[in-house]
Amino acid sequence: MADGPKLQRQFPEIDNNMIRSDAAMAFSERHNIRSAPVLTVVDDETAALITERLAPRIEGRTVVEIGGGIGLLSLHMASVARRVYCIEANPVWSFNFVQLFLEKKPKNLSFLFGAADEFVGCIRADVAIICTHSDVRGMTLVGQQFAPIVVDVYGELVDANPDAFDAFARQARLIV
Ligand SMILES: C[S@@+](CC[C@H](N)C(=O)[O-])C[C@H]1O[C@@H](n2cnc3c(N)ncnc32)[C@H](O)[C@@H]1O
Repeated sequence: MADGPKLQRQFPEIDNNMIRSDAAMAFSERHNIRSAPVLTVVDDETAALITERLAPRIEGRTVVEIGGGIGLLSLHMASVARRVYCIEANPVWSFNFVQLFLEKKPKNLSFLFGAADEFVGCIRADVAIICTHSDVRGMTLVGQQFAPIVVDVYGELVDANPDAFDAFARQARLIV
């Protein structure tokens, strides 16, 4: 799968040049994107662990990931799910990893670039996945328009082991 350390080495360049540029900020505003431009799934180990946790709920099913970042989690989920749609408003992330998808993208994984609400009514899924620490509420609401079940991956991890997370961070993720 992907070379985690190599992916991480590329992040400062993406951050400085594109992700925090005026154009990127205007893009987020235009597309009503409220989450922070921060990636949490940037290596295969993390993506594999999350996929393993989700496997009983996504195996053989149609999954939509809202705000998929570079698409690494969706890539892993596609090895378990029947079909995965990775919706990501910002094309900058995965375009910087185009070589990865050139080499690895399977046919049951599709990327949709745009705000998720642009695709409501176009696709349906059994399960929606969100992996974020910001705009959890907004991304959950849009996820509910695609699937009857929305999994807030980090919310579940916090609930399962609250003491492992900073108290402020636990609260903040629900309001920012
Ligand atoms: C905090 S980042 C996390 C990215 C990725 N899930 C990860 O953990 O590495 C949230 C991402 O969701 C995207 N996003 C937020 N709201 C969205 C929406 N309504 N439609 C599509 N993408 C959205 C943002 O562009 C951003 O890349």
